[in-house]
Amino acid sequence: MKKLFTLFALVLASAHLFAQKSENLALTPPMGWNTWNIFQTKIDEPLLKSMVDAYVSSGMRDAGYTYFVLDDGWMSMERDANGQLVADPQKFPNGMKAFADYVHSKGMKFGIYNCAGVKTCAGYPGTRGHEYEDARLYASWGVDYLKFDWCNAEGQNARESYMLMSKALKATGRPIVFSLCEWGTNRPWAWGAKAGQLWRTTGDIGPYFDKSLTKGGWTPQSVLNILDKQDSIRQYAGPGHWNDPDMLEVGNGMSVAEDRSHFSIWCMLAAPLMAGNNLHSMSEDTKTILTNKEAIAVNQDALGVECFKYYQFDGMEILVKPLSDGNLAVLFLNRSDRSQTVNFDWAGHLIQDKVSNTDVDFSKNNYKLRDLWAHKDVGTTQKAFKQTIPSHDVVMLKLTK
Ligand code: GLA
Repeated sequence: MKKLFTLFALVLASAHLFAQKSENLALTPPMGWNTWNIFQTKIDEPLLKSMVDAYVSSGMRDAGYTYFVLDDGWMSMERDANGQLVADPQKFPNGMKAFADYVHSKGMKFGIYNCAGVKTCAGYPGTRGHEYEDARLYASWGVDYLKFDWCNAEGQNARESYMLMSKALKATGRPIVFSLCEWGTNRPWAWGAKAGQLWRTTGDIGPYFDKSLTKGGWTPQSVLNILDKQDSIRQYAGPGHWNDPDMLEVGNGMSVAEDRSHFSIWCMLAAPLMAGNNLHSMSEDTKTILTNKEAIAVNQDALGVECFKYYQFDGMEILVKPLSDGNLAVLFLNRSDRSQTVNFDWAGHLIQDKVSNTDVDFSKNNYKLRDLWAHKDVGTTQKAFKQTIPSHDVVMLKLTK
């Protein structure tokens, strides 16, 4: 009887430990790299091994990026005779476990993709009806992150489908970050934290800053388009549960100013930072943007509060992100098509942020100003801040008491 009780207590204790572990999986927004934005389904082991190597040599890993995620297109078109998913043998001749081991051997975590529906968005076998066996397979490969899409899910209830996969992942006993890719259709911010650590808030991003191009009858979201959809849902994000405004398009065709603005906005939004460019051939400008540790520190701030729109006038917008220790990040964003000069006196703009429970009053404290792209101190809030900002560019400041 005593033995049985000890066993029961042990089981309870380990269940509790695991529950804690899974709650602590993404206390700050997950950072990583994902295949989709640049390669779509054209992926294979040699290409991706070169991306793993570049992840390390470019300094991405040391800047804080952790996950290496394979998106759609990694598997064979059919499950095997036992109903198991198989890695496409042409693309991954050594199997997925060997590739996961390679990622782990370089100090990163490994992520994979599937879909809640019967097929993935690109037509590969989906998980519907195979939740527990797929979760067990991923755990056996050493998967640390699952992105779970929402194509071909007609008639399915989103919340139930994501909860089911969440339970299947938890049942494996392996801590796996669960990324809900439901595009914001069923308000995942209202229930997603029960299932996973992050949920998409919009349709797919494209490499466009303000105006998107329509291709094949489909118009991707632009950076500004996505930004404007986040303000009303910012209260749903916080440590362990994040709004996901989609992966980064830095290095995929926008101008350097636009890439810098895109990255700064995602840092201000406390968004997951999933790079989506060719790491092997990235330019110095792209590398400088993606590995800016001062901007990343704003994204990874422990308070985990998303920025809010503080002020907008004539195409110039000011975003404010409350940080831990009472500090603030402030982004001046020039959304317009022309250069504009900011002359901001810091006085008389008191705002009470209900989400973080902070009073934002720049003039109350004498804050020191640090320019996070120029990497230099640029005065204090005692004096008006004056600077010309080119079209689609930003000035990102950290205000320290
Ligand atoms: C959907 C997702 C994308 C990507 C593709 C893959 O469109 O939103 O991020 O995963 O599917 O097919």
